[in-house]
Amino acid sequence: MIIEPRMRGFICLTAHPKGCEQNVKNQIEYIKSKGPIDGPKKVLVIGASTGFGLASRITAAFGSDAATIGVFFEKPPLEGRPGSPGWYNSAAFEKEAHKAGLYAKSINGDAFSNEIKQQTLDLIKTDLGQIDLVIYSLASPVREHPITGVLHRSVLKPIGTTYTNKTVDFHTGIVSDISIEPCLENDIVNTVAVMGGEDWAMWMNDLKEANLLAPGAMTVAYSYIGPSLTEAVYRKGTIGRAKDHLEATAFAITDSLKSIGGKAFVSVNKALVTQASSAIPVIPLYISLLYKIMKEEGIHEGCIEQIQRLFHDRLYTGNPIPTDEKGRIRIDDWEMRSDVQEKIANLWKKATTESLHEIGDLEGYKQDFLNLFGFEFEGVDYDADADEMIGISSIV
Ligand code: NAI
Repeated sequence: MIIEPRMRGFICLTAHPKGCEQNVKNQIEYIKSKGPIDGPKKVLVIGASTGFGLASRITAAFGSDAATIGVFFEKPPLEGRPGSPGWYNSAAFEKEAHKAGLYAKSINGDAFSNEIKQQTLDLIKTDLGQIDLVIYSLASPVREHPITGVLHRSVLKPIGTTYTNKTVDFHTGIVSDISIEPCLENDIVNTVAVMGGEDWAMWMNDLKEANLLAPGAMTVAYSYIGPSLTEAVYRKGTIGRAKDHLEATAFAITDSLKSIGGKAFVSVNKALVTQASSAIPVIPLYISLLYKIMKEEGIHEGCIEQIQRLFHDRLYTGNPIPTDEKGRIRIDDWEMRSDVQEKIANLWKKATTESLHEIGDLEGYKQDFLNLFGFEFEGVDYDADADEMIGISSIV
């Protein structure tokens, strides 16, 4: 079928298998171009199909020849209806990994559930024995709690007071004011239940109990801080509470892994266009200004550049892992540089529908957004018939 982007709000309903494959191949080429990393050998990536998780899987596999198991929640295709981008990304990843002689298997299902955890443990036990790195990179709006059965929904709201600021509809380029009402008390509890650290701790506990963690095993989850401009809706909002919880959980997991010399870290990453971040009001405007400045300064990075730097310059240097005063790895260091942030704060005041094309990188934002779904890649013939029924070879 001919597959074109079909937009609804901040999501795209279609994905292009060839474009997703190109995206994965580009990321693999980038990792190969940067040379080998003396990194992990057996890796579990939870949330492995898009964004930072996919980049982590690619970096481990093609940077350090690691065997990888990827867990994700994606839609397979039906005749005449393309699958989700993460499905096609994972199909392409496995194809390339197998071509390179690397072990790669995937599990598609709800990572919050006991069933998927058990399936993953069984697969590790049978195929890999023990793993030395667990990447936790889930971004989800909902979680069914495996013990209580309660369905928690996360919200992206300020706490205490209404937040009013500018935002951009990145499809139309229209800059407008948006007001977001403060959350209810339950919203905090629910958002922490979905995006906090409880599930990460459950995974690590199950893996340890089953003796599937190698001595000195490491686990890393991803967080975000960002500037004061977005603080009320992000870091000091409901999602920020969840990130506080995630960050605190790293210490609890490290404690629980003492007997095997294991360690848990949170890495604070840069703001990037992913399916998760495009859903947060105000963030698209911030990102379009951030892209403009970082590209001008020659310090722009996408997910793959961020994770390559995380592995190469932070996690696997042979030296102790550098962290900030709160124990977090900072790979958002270039985003948070004071000169970059000062420029953004100035541009923010000037941002209007008319000025944004000049002062921001809305085109870069749109391009990245379409790329997420496999569109607008060089070298892909979008007028050609594409086979939507692509399968993943080692799906469990
Ligand atoms: P994403 O939306 O690209 O990826 C989410 C992944 O989670 C996908 O692989 C998806 O299949 C998987 N997933 C979602 N629900 C699942 C479930 N129930 N069971 C199994 N898999 C499930 O998101 P992104 O942006 O890569 O986010 C990953 C982490 O990075 C999040 O913790 C996010 O807060 C963090 N982060 C994101 C930043 C950004 O700007 N995008 C910046 C800094 C941190």
